[in-house]
Amino acid sequence: MRKTLYFLLFLVPFFGCESTPPVEQQPVLDLVPQVKSLQKQKGSLDFRKVILLEGEVLASFDDYLRSSLSTRGVDLLQPEKNSANIEFHQVDFGAESSYELKINKEGVIINAAHTSGFFYGIQTLLQIIDGNRADLQLPLVDIEDEALFQHRGVLLDCCRHFMSVEKVKKVIDLMAYHKMNVLHWHLTEDQGWRIEIDAFPKLTEVGAWRTEPDGSTHGGFYTKEQIREIVSYAADRQVEIIPEIEMPGHSTAAIAAYPWLSCSGEATEVVNEWGVFQNIYCAGNDSTFAFLETVLDEVCELFPSPYIHIGGDEAPKTNWESCSNCQQRLKLEGLHDEHELQSYFIQRMGQYLAEKGKQIIGWDEILEGGLPDGAIVQSWRGMDGGIQALEQGGATIMSPTSHAYFDYPITTTNLEKVYGFDPMPEGISEDRRSFVLGGECNLWTEHIPEDRLEIMMFPRVCAMAEVLWTKRSAKDYSDFKQRMKQHYQRLDLLDVNYGFPEWPISIETEIEDERFFAEVVPNLEDGSLQVFAGEELIGSEITDTFRFEVLGEMMLDFVLKQGGRAFEDRLSDHLYKHLGVLGAPLQSSEYSPYYTGGGDRALVDGLLGSNDFRDGRWQAVQGDDLFIVLDLKEEREVKSVASNFLFYNNAWIFLPDSVAFEVSMNGENWESLASPLAFDFDQRIKNEVEVLRVKYDFESRKARFLRMRAYNRGKTPVWHDAPGEPAWLFCDEFIVE
Ligand code: ACM
Ligand code: ZN
Repeated sequence: MRKTLYFLLFLVPFFGCESTPPVEQQPVLDLVPQVKSLQKQKGSLDFRKVILLEGEVLASFDDYLRSSLSTRGVDLLQPEKNSANIEFHQVDFGAESSYELKINKEGVIINAAHTSGFFYGIQTLLQIIDGNRADLQLPLVDIEDEALFQHRGVLLDCCRHFMSVEKVKKVIDLMAYHKMNVLHWHLTEDQGWRIEIDAFPKLTEVGAWRTEPDGSTHGGFYTKEQIREIVSYAADRQVEIIPEIEMPGHSTAAIAAYPWLSCSGEATEVVNEWGVFQNIYCAGNDSTFAFLETVLDEVCELFPSPYIHIGGDEAPKTNWESCSNCQQRLKLEGLHDEHELQSYFIQRMGQYLAEKGKQIIGWDEILEGGLPDGAIVQSWRGMDGGIQALEQGGATIMSPTSHAYFDYPITTTNLEKVYGFDPMPEGISEDRRSFVLGGECNLWTEHIPEDRLEIMMFPRVCAMAEVLWTKRSAKDYSDFKQRMKQHYQRLDLLDVNYGFPEWPISIETEIEDERFFAEVVPNLEDGSLQVFAGEELIGSEITDTFRFEVLGEMMLDFVLKQGGRAFEDRLSDHLYKHLGVLGAPLQSSEYSPYYTGGGDRALVDGLLGSNDFRDGRWQAVQGDDLFIVLDLKEEREVKSVASNFLFYNNAWIFLPDSVAFEVSMNGENWESLASPLAFDFDQRIKNEVEVLRVKYDFESRKARFLRMRAYNRGKTPVWHDAPGEPAWLFCDEFIVE
């Protein structure tokens, strides 16, 4: 079986005066992702001093291994004569990713058939070293391992926020450490064009820079030299880079540089807000295609990957509908509608790339109007797009928003949720299974500047890595969580600024003798909590529960620690004791199961929302009015009513048209407190999030029942990028005083 012995690593038994017998300590394994099989033997291997010999075949590993070992405090000695006790062997077995790693009393043996197998064997060895960095006594084990899926990806959006070359390299290092192998590099967007193209210099002179709403400039791009350097750095770490060049949508930055790329040809600016924009490439002008072909010629030269991602998502067809060139194209090509025109666009570019030996990947919208020949579908709006692609004879990569969007907060996508992801849809026939190439986690960076990237990526990437690498039968979340305890220490050693694995605190509120109490419980392994009310520390080193009385309105701030490390993110919450919390809701609108705000009591639970619509405090309805009928349980003196509403047009969340407040003594005869307070929000096209408190003060009066109805504007307005869709209405509380 063995073909060539090409790489030798000698271990030198550790003698010498500074030698102290290793401290009795259990050597650590706890690998992430978990390996396919593992047999542990008694004893350990002293790995403090090692001899590394130049190899014949895989000389490229030599540098990588030397630097990886020396940064871990392993002493590399000069070669000595024939006493090999660590060996790298090329063998015939297994898939590309397969390897065997044996650590015995004499040393380490890694067997593999392919470069990537050796590389993953080395990663496992490095994780074992990192688990035992204190004394470098490695456990004796026999490991057999291989990847479950061939495509184990991370999408990195470097457009919404530019990421430095150093950060991209760190991402690649951390991917490699977790045996991820595809960096899907999102390089063009409405908010920035990030790749130097010689034929069109304005793409980066103009398109790489935007003026932020506060007047500052944000931007940057990668020179060809930097791209070559990153591609080569990634290749050394078995990471393939697939560039994404978006079309026909998400292309405002290119249009800002060359306005003739759009239907109107009008000058525009690089966008400085988030969303989906109507200004897309014109599908009628041949010059658009000539432009994209030239761009792709240069892109193909830079990236050796056989794949190019061409986007295809979120391309509103509004401009195409009124563009004479686009309509002309429709007629000429015998197309029925603008969806078929999108399909034509993608087909045409796909054919061009196929002639250059490249296969296209596109978001699931590329299915609309027919699956383009040879295209791989990346399914993001759930798994259905991927399933359709499989049914139509195509291949797919799964990255559904439900599990794989790491720009989403931990409240919607926590570690356990990610771990529960399975890219293989249920009921897929045996012969189609190999066309599920794998999955990706997507790091869209609208809200993630460079210094927050690691907080959002980790620890979730660890779970995704295991989902994509480890055989399903070996998946067990409690076991994974147990291994993660050790793995966090590895992440500390690698200087990873990881965030919370799940929402780290829970708050319960209760009424006792008309007093309002809150109980805060930290929810972190080995975690503790400090609670601040404004600036004042009101609870410290809390590991169990912390109960306190809420008086009036309180802004709480939480600092969480795990082990000795304080998380960078401070959490906050907003509590409010008002008369409403003493009451009971009798009736309320049918709220969305996605935004319950905590359920039936949400509007009188004394917990207010932040400007994050997913924070769990907001209750929402779509298309309909939002209302509550409240029983104060006894007649009470009331003098004001108020409600908070969220505005975020990007997420289709609008303020109500009007709000009506009413009172009653018996729950039958109602009296209007204020004729519905009406608003005209139609011109609010700004993209900032805003919380609006609608408050009505009146002469103090007695009341037992109260009700509030917020009238939904109905549909998203005409100026919106998705006009005529049912508008969301978000409310966090009905405040009665
Ligand atoms: C996407 O998230 N628009 C692919
Ligand atoms: Zn057009």
